[in-house]
Amino acid sequence: MSDSIILGIESSCDDTSAAVLKGNKILSNIAANQKIHMEYGGVVPELASRAHQQNIIPVVNQAFIKANIQQNEISAVGFTRGPGLLGSLLVGTSFAKSLAMGLNVPLIEVNHLQAHILAHFIDDANPKPPAFPFLCLTVSGGHTMIVLVKNYFDMEIIGKTIDDAAGEAFDKIGKIFGLDYPAGPIIDKLAKKGDANSFNFNKPKLDAYNYSFSGIKTSVLYFIQKEIKKNPVFITENLENLCASVQRSIVEILMQKLEKAAADFGIKEVAIAGGVSANSGLREAMLKNAEKLGWNIYIPKFEYTTDNAAMIAMVAKLKYDRGEFADLSVSATARYDI
Ligand code: KG4
Ligand code: ZN
Repeated sequence: MSDSIILGIESSCDDTSAAVLKGNKILSNIAANQKIHMEYGGVVPELASRAHQQNIIPVVNQAFIKANIQQNEISAVGFTRGPGLLGSLLVGTSFAKSLAMGLNVPLIEVNHLQAHILAHFIDDANPKPPAFPFLCLTVSGGHTMIVLVKNYFDMEIIGKTIDDAAGEAFDKIGKIFGLDYPAGPIIDKLAKKGDANSFNFNKPKLDAYNYSFSGIKTSVLYFIQKEIKKNPVFITENLENLCASVQRSIVEILMQKLEKAAADFGIKEVAIAGGVSANSGLREAMLKNAEKLGWNIYIPKFEYTTDNAAMIAMVAKLKYDRGEFADLSVSATARYDI
């Protein structure tokens, strides 16, 4: 079973991605990012579906070529069933079903959120994978949650955002600053040149392990509106300091709850996953806690943090080994619990 060759397909949001996994090794992981959404300052679902349909065959072909694998060599097709944008998911789902039927191989459905977490088990994601049970802070443009991972498919969400996701906060605050979409990586880059203690923004006071990010977005908006009245070029003159301060605030909010959860559950195996785990401020905070609190930290390789098909293929492989196959009547689902 370990020499299985799995094709993974991801199309839940605005990245069309395909990957080939042999055993635990990624042979290719191709992604076409849809630039079209930049013009609109966010993902436009209808345009995303159409771009997936244009991209999916070239991307899958590229994945086969890069892996040096023929279509008829694959053991199974894994695809993202949800959660995500329904129109986008339908493209990947229909394609995966047709390909599995055409090649007469098993079809395997994958939960996108589980995939972000289980990306840690890809051969070259980490020097060594996390040990169960571990905590995983899953932070992306659509999700922010702390997950207690007891086993591969035994996960419990112990805290989550009650409004915006952390990536969404980065993107929306970036929009206020006039930055392109997605603003998260741009804020990260600019923050490196700024003073993180220049400005303070309101932080939420929520119980347990839940998050809220709409407050900080409003706090930044009101602050900017007030300052611009006094100085119309306030943003331009302070952009790096603003980015550094926003990043510090978001990272502090994320880490505070994660630290509380780790202490309460007595867990020192702590991982991060999802697009925002590429953030250098968050990575630095994790490293600090490894030293200060003795955490064993797990930060996957960059290409496995943002949306990618390698993580989908990884989960499909775990299910393949258990013989967990989907029926060809399976359909995409926009909401899909862990
Ligand atoms: O996981 P992902 O690729 O897609 C979703 O499932 O949402 O995450 C995309 C999110 C975007 O909000 C983007 O701004 C954010 O991840 N992001 C970052 C960084 N790189 C990506 N946010 C902060 N710092 C970064 N370096
Ligand atoms: Zn994602």
